[in-house]
Amino acid sequence: MNTFAGKVALVTGGSSGIGRATAIKFGERAAKVVVAARREKEGKETVEMIKKAGGEAMFVQTDVRIASQVENMVQQTVKKYGHLDIAFNNAGVGGIMARLIRTTEDTFDEVVDTNFKGVWLSMKYEIPVMLEQGGGVIINNSSTAGVSTAERLSVYSGSKHAVVAISNAASTEYGRDNIRVVAICPGWIKTRMTEELRARKDADAFQSSIPLKRWGEPEEVAEMVIWLASDAASFVTGGAFIISGGMNV
Ligand SMILES: NC(=O)c1ccc[n+]([C@@H]2O[C@H](COP(=O)([O-])OP(=O)(O)OC[C@H]3O[C@@H](n4cnc5c(N)ncnc54)[C@H](OP(=O)(O)O)[C@@H]3O)[C@@H](O)[C@H]2O)c1
Repeated sequence: MNTFAGKVALVTGGSSGIGRATAIKFGERAAKVVVAARREKEGKETVEMIKKAGGEAMFVQTDVRIASQVENMVQQTVKKYGHLDIAFNNAGVGGIMARLIRTTEDTFDEVVDTNFKGVWLSMKYEIPVMLEQGGGVIINNSSTAGVSTAERLSVYSGSKHAVVAISNAASTEYGRDNIRVVAICPGWIKTRMTEELRARKDADAFQSSIPLKRWGEPEEVAEMVIWLASDAASFVTGGAFIISGGMNV
């Protein structure tokens, strides 16, 4: 379980869901973990969970939409742990699902600023540290909506397609610098983001339309991130890795 001994892993959106599950797995595998998110209480709870499991972690309160806060997140990481080997840029929002013409400008700005600008800003400040130290791994959380799409998902889907595109672009720019960059594309996962959908009357019918007949668990997505971040995936860069139980939106 010492896969990441000596490594430092940063997880944005580590205060719940997929980010929390992944941060815990990094901690269990001996990485020093930086948990970043806006909610302090929940972020610190993740840190406590990692420490309880015998790991080392700290919380840096961060809004990924704001450049100075993202810069601070990376600076605090390097100040405390000396380097940054793995970044899981996972912070994201679903926004309000609505038809394109009913989507408000506020929803557009929230979704695009968090999901796309947040990933761009994160890489903008993470990559210089990785260049300086001679390499690193970046995993950006897109969605099956980043490779396919559906009704009432136009803005979310657009933001997640952009995450796949910027990940691929970065993988071509920084491969020569020993920085691997990939996107992951989860399907329907049991987190806060999908709470409302799972509470709907037609939730059972929806679930049975998934080929594996169930929602995914955040821990299952975390396992994919762990593999992609590890040396077992040393020849993997670029691409969009689907984990969806067979339902690609
Ligand atoms: N659940 C699914 O079915 C599913 C499917 C495909 C992709 N995804 C993607 O998975 C990622 C994680 O979502 P989740 O499903 O685990 O839901 P979640 O539990 O709601 O987690 C979202 C995380 O993003 C953080 N976040 C949101 N806005 C932020 C901001 N401006 N700055 C910093 N952190 C921010 C939240 O923390 P704070 O609120 O504390 O800031 C939270 O930790 C998202 O990118 C989402 O699009 C989810």
